[in-house]
Amino acid sequence: MAVIPLVKAPDPRLKLVSKPVDSIDKELKRFMDDMIETMYANKGIGLAAIQIGVPKRVAVIDLDPQGPNSKPLYLINPVIVEKSEERSTYNEGCLSVPEFWEDVHRAARLTVEYTNERGEKERVEADGLFATCLQHEIDHINGLLFIDHLSKLKRSIALRKSAKLKRLGDDD
Ligand code: CO
Repeated sequence: MAVIPLVKAPDPRLKLVSKPVDSIDKELKRFMDDMIETMYANKGIGLAAIQIGVPKRVAVIDLDPQGPNSKPLYLINPVIVEKSEERSTYNEGCLSVPEFWEDVHRAARLTVEYTNERGEKERVEADGLFATCLQHEIDHINGLLFIDHLSKLKRSIALRKSAKLKRLGDDD
């Protein structure tokens, strides 16, 4: 496995709508293993492929990275099939928007269908942090960042900070 450099805002690749995956093979599994290793190395709980520059509709999630309840999830072509009217708020961050956290309001509960790394269809119902994380990663797949849910002012603060960290070269 390998740790791959992250794509950080502002970068036009983060606005791309990623392409569906049509073959689930060893190569894709290896690629997603690299995504998991990259996520762990950066202390994240979720990572979408575009965050390492690859516009494929895949993401990985582990809500307890390398902890006792660690359970890496391989999400291929995930789709939200249902979501609650009720919303919840979580203080979000993103590996592509370093050193910035803000409250984001999203559906409190949702149902997501996806294909796993063995090519099997899965359906998962989620609430709490898991629901937030699924929506955050599926947003990435559709070219959205969590800061796109914020006011223009807050978004520009986050982007300026990320740009400055890139210039200083100490954003890793
Ligand atoms: Co993110």
